Amino acid sequence: MAQLIDGKALAAQMREQMAAQVTELCAKGVTPGLAVVLVGDDPASRVYVSMKEKACAATGIYSAEHKLPAETSQQELLELVDQLNNDERIDGILVQLPLPDHIDEDCVLNAISPLKDVDGFHPYNVGCLVTGHPTFRSCTPYGVMKMLESIQYDLDGKEVVVVGRSNIVGKPVALMCLAENATVTICHSRTKDLPAHVGRADVVIAAVGRPEMVKGAWIKEGAVVIDVGINRVGDKKLVGDVEFDAAAEKASYITPVPGGVGPMTITMLLFNTIQSATSRVTAK
Ligand code: GUN
Repeated sequence: MAQLIDGKALAAQMREQMAAQVTELCAKGVTPGLAVVLVGDDPASRVYVSMKEKACAATGIYSAEHKLPAETSQQELLELVDQLNNDERIDGILVQLPLPDHIDEDCVLNAISPLKDVDGFHPYNVGCLVTGHPTFRSCTPYGVMKMLESIQYDLDGKEVVVVGRSNIVGKPVALMCLAENATVTICHSRTKDLPAHVGRADVVIAAVGRPEMVKGAWIKEGAVVIDVGINRVGDKKLVGDVEFDAAAEKASYITPVPGGVGPMTITMLLFNTIQSATSRVTAK
């Protein structure tokens, strides 16, 4: 039976340490600041944004929320990004995705200063990850890496199978595992024989956004299973991308949903914001 990797507990422990770091930074005259931009009223995005605000407040980070109507033009959004790029109180800028259809997401992400891109989505920061000199790392994949670190898992030479190839999770987490000398396979909707790939993995990272798509029976005995999915089924129940009970029978470690990767994402956003503010102290 697998041991749980408790993301909620790890996140709480990290946030406590970060609150102490923020106190130190404030004593040096630098209050870390995060700007969160939400366009429109997607209900899930609203929930995420309010969680981010609360997490900032609890850690002592200054947060500036910019809630814009769905009709906001791309030009108006770009002007706000430019203003935030030049705002000295702001160390990190997060534009919540998805954006409304009339706005070109890439264009907006490219406009964020790479030095304030705490989401790690700017092509400059993505490029740094690809070339093995990471700067800001995207929050969810970074959270996954911290969870593996928390169980002292050594990725060197291990088979990692990532299910999902999104820019937010699949691709960056694969690159982060590669940087730790794992042998990485990225599977996606066109992959032939997914069970065979998952079946040889020492570490399975599921990030497809489909409820319980990865079956417990596919998991190799003793594998580590990281489930990035959060899917609502029926009215209330949340399930991951992995069939949890059956996978837990075979895995050595597994992340629960909820309470696994979820709480780590915001934690790493705070982490990146503090990292950014720290460079402001060094520059002083
Ligand atoms: N939407 C879903 N996940 C994310 C994230 O990590 N950052 C941003 N900006 N938007 C998201």
